Amino acid sequence: MTGSESIPLARPDLGDREEELVLEVLRSGRLSLGPMLERFERDFADWIGVDDAVAVSSGTTALHLGVRALGWGEGDEVVTSPFSFVSSANCLLYEDAVPVFCDIDPATLNLDPEAATAAVGERTVGLLPVHIFGCAAAMPELEQLAADRGLGILEDAAEATGAVDEEGVRVGARGNIATFGFYANKQLVTGEGGMAIPSDGEVAALMRSERNQGRAPGMGWLGHERLGFNYRITDIQAALGIAQVERAESLLGERARVAELYAQALAPLGAARAGEGDPDGLVLLSADRGQARRSWFVYVVQLPVGANRDAVIADLADQGIDSKAYLPCIHLMPHYRERFGFRGGEFPVAERVSNRSLALPFFRVMGEAEVARVAQALAAALDKA
Ligand SMILES: Cc1ncc(COP(=O)(O)O)c(C=O)c1O
Repeated sequence: MTGSESIPLARPDLGDREEELVLEVLRSGRLSLGPMLERFERDFADWIGVDDAVAVSSGTTALHLGVRALGWGEGDEVVTSPFSFVSSANCLLYEDAVPVFCDIDPATLNLDPEAATAAVGERTVGLLPVHIFGCAAAMPELEQLAADRGLGILEDAAEATGAVDEEGVRVGARGNIATFGFYANKQLVTGEGGMAIPSDGEVAALMRSERNQGRAPGMGWLGHERLGFNYRITDIQAALGIAQVERAESLLGERARVAELYAQALAPLGAARAGEGDPDGLVLLSADRGQARRSWFVYVVQLPVGANRDAVIADLADQGIDSKAYLPCIHLMPHYRERFGFRGGEFPVAERVSNRSLALPFFRVMGEAEVARVAQALAAALDKA
């Protein structure tokens, strides 16, 4: 460990406006199901450009409500990516639906539409694309596949708040059910929290009822018209969300600035963007395609083939720099191996990327000096590893 201050992987960005709105909630005494909830939903929906949005307790609970709204249940197969955070597959298991994984595109790291097409079978009822690391999935192709085969779509946009797809549409605004997450390391944070974009008014009403113990509008506290859950977000969290939406464009712009600093600092190490340079060298996240704009969530690099990732992580830790092997493939997690018999080797692109990926410190207020320190430490670690 050096004398310099340590650099964490992520750091939430909260300011005076967040404090002001949270204080307003505390002084109002309305801690849940109050005015901040509705305001957060309205502000978020307006910003994304959709009619409505349903705020819930997490990105995971938003996904669960999405699965239920689509009616996916026992034995139904849903095609999805193995290179994701575990929630995007777990939400199917909650309803006894079956995740059918298929391989990813090595450039975008998202569901490969060709592999998805090949994975659709007789029991397939839907597609669950994940907009991984803030890069919009290939929605035009996936929507065509869904239309051809009569499938539902649930978009997991937990990592892609504010991203824009290749057709210039903001992620979440294509008319499919889409979900977002606001955990403390996300682009917009509420501590814990999530948002579901319903596909129509009926779905919105169902989601609002299910998040609130199955109550119907106007029903008393002990009235429950259907099976429900406690997936509510508090007004304290919603207040944070309102302040974050107000600052969303500047928060996202600053993150893009830090990503650009990284690209410059890592260029001397021979780094190239995925799909552009030596695929066995140090690979950065892909450049935007068409009108697409990545919403920068994490700064993940793929280490050169043959580098010892554990040694790199240990070496960076010695320099006071946090890093993380990110992401492990879902199908290789113990629960999935046991339940579905995965052994490894099934999805070679996802597994290769997963084995080489490393998340570096990334947050809005990182300056040039901090980025340079990480890049130098990584270069030194790679020389040794
Ligand atoms: C792709 C993806 N899906 C779902 C989630 C779940 O969100 P939450 O942690 O808010 O439940 C996350 C969060 O980390 C995620 O990255």
